Amino acid sequence: MSADTDLTPPGTEGASMTNREALLEKIEALDVEHAKAVAGGGEKYVARHRKRGKLLARERIELLVDEGSAFLELSPLAGWGSDFAVGASLVTGIGVVEGVECLITANDPTVKGGASNPWTLKKAFRASQIAEENGLPTIALVESGGADLPTQKEIFIPGGRMFRDITRASADRRPTIALVFGNSTAGGAYIPGMSDYTVMVKEGAKVFLGGPPLVKMATGEESDDESLGGAEMHARTSGLADYLAADEHDAIRLGRRIVARLNQAKARSDAALPPYSEPDLDPDGLLDLIPADLKEPFDPREVILRIVDGTRAGVGPAGNGVPFDEFKPLYGASLVTGWARIHGRPVGILANAQGVLFSEEAQKATQFIQLANQVDTPLLFLHNTTGYMVGAEYEQGGIIKHGAQMINAVSNSKVPHLSVVMGASYGAGNYGMNGRAFDPRFLFTWPSAKSAVMGPAQLAGVLSLVARASAEAKGAPYDEEGDAGMRAFVEQMVEEQSLPHFLSGMLYDDGVIDPRDTRTVLGICLSVIDHQPIRGTDRFGVFRM
Ligand code: COA
Repeated sequence: MSADTDLTPPGTEGASMTNREALLEKIEALDVEHAKAVAGGGEKYVARHRKRGKLLARERIELLVDEGSAFLELSPLAGWGSDFAVGASLVTGIGVVEGVECLITANDPTVKGGASNPWTLKKAFRASQIAEENGLPTIALVESGGADLPTQKEIFIPGGRMFRDITRASADRRPTIALVFGNSTAGGAYIPGMSDYTVMVKEGAKVFLGGPPLVKMATGEESDDESLGGAEMHARTSGLADYLAADEHDAIRLGRRIVARLNQAKARSDAALPPYSEPDLDPDGLLDLIPADLKEPFDPREVILRIVDGTRAGVGPAGNGVPFDEFKPLYGASLVTGWARIHGRPVGILANAQGVLFSEEAQKATQFIQLANQVDTPLLFLHNTTGYMVGAEYEQGGIIKHGAQMINAVSNSKVPHLSVVMGASYGAGNYGMNGRAFDPRFLFTWPSAKSAVMGPAQLAGVLSLVARASAEAKGAPYDEEGDAGMRAFVEQMVEEQSLPHFLSGMLYDDGVIDPRDTRTVLGICLSVIDHQPIRGTDRFGVFRM
């Protein structure tokens, strides 16, 4: 029996079961999609890769990170729904190496030789943005056929940014390390070329601007892989390799030794944190809490108490005392705001309660965001909103002005933001609650989430009303049968496009997570954020009054 059983209102036990079943079904469906990314290029290419005595991308990462530490994989569903393999032939994430949190990327050579397609690029850019914003060293595990040639027009020009980012990271005092396991040719040669430290695997790495056939074509010169770009040649002759690794395991060992000497220190060390205890309520209860039908509201306090540090340890002799100190609890009840800690780190939380944001909620959020900036505290946004309230009463009450105040505060706030889309995230509510366009440091989605400009039925209904009015204006008869077909088609299309795996495939989040993992994921993110000092702002845009 979970710790939260007592909180279940009488008579809702049956409904809870249904919620649990529905959410578990969604989590299982998601596992199937994640498994596609893990499968890489499929059995045939995995077997061939192993037969060559090579480790898979995820195995390389597993050996690289500290034993028993967590690896937070990012954007695993990149490319979902496109013509390219789920995962976009690249694994990215944050792992701890020799006690240092590093941004790790690894080409998956079992997918089209590890070639980079447009989704690979988007995923790599996002990883590099995360490293930049959080001040992380980067480790690239390289084995790639370079540009995906059939889509070269989409990647060649923007792809240069990958190399620009490597050297800018170095200039920004964020060390860059390339461990080259295999092919890294043409443009790809600049990955080790631009990195601060380069390790190459003997008889594995091949780093050249042009391979033997290209050289023969260009200059008529006869050559071979080793003389053009072998690891031994680069370690002994060209000097591009700083270390020659005897094999893949040795390359990983050398990579770890390099990190051990990077002399990295976080702005707020883990040792400076107070002790903390696990949440007061069992996170497993989240499965019962989230309604299968997003129209049903749920109390976000029940979510918060399953994510934040519990009562038993923390600041002061009595511990945290109160795990969640709610701010302005009697005002703007449709948005819950308050202070808590996650893994000992302070955080301000904004969580939607009843779905709709009214003027009071928007103003409360604006004030709360300013308060967090005043005391340099990161913010966590928990989305479940259908957007700002519409209707004459609310327009006359200034809902646009108040929503704009909230969006102003979110946009100009300088403390780090984290977003978790729990349920609905519709319309400008997505913006006010710090959607992707507002650059949260990290944004994760639950399998129960849905994001779109509005709900599918509403969107189809609006289109229908507009078409009807247009026909009337022209004096033309309205095709009712066609309208019903259009509405059904649009509704289904928008429904599919609002789903988490679709949006995650487009890199609109950093991953879809099991709600029960939320605390761990946020704990890692907050720890990563602590690499740099947090400094809030008092400079916002003009608040319209
Ligand atoms: N673009 C698109 N597809 C590519 C690719 C690329 N750059 N590189 C490899 N592939 C595809 C292959 O066509 C093959 O597809 P298939 O199995 O459906 O026929 C699959 O990936 C595996 O390639 P394969 O050559 O069998 O794998 P390998 O492990 O023996 O060799 C490479 C991998 C990368 C060394 C080799 O494929 C290669 O040299 N590719 C071209 C590299 C290049 O010149 N890139 C341009 C850089 S700008």
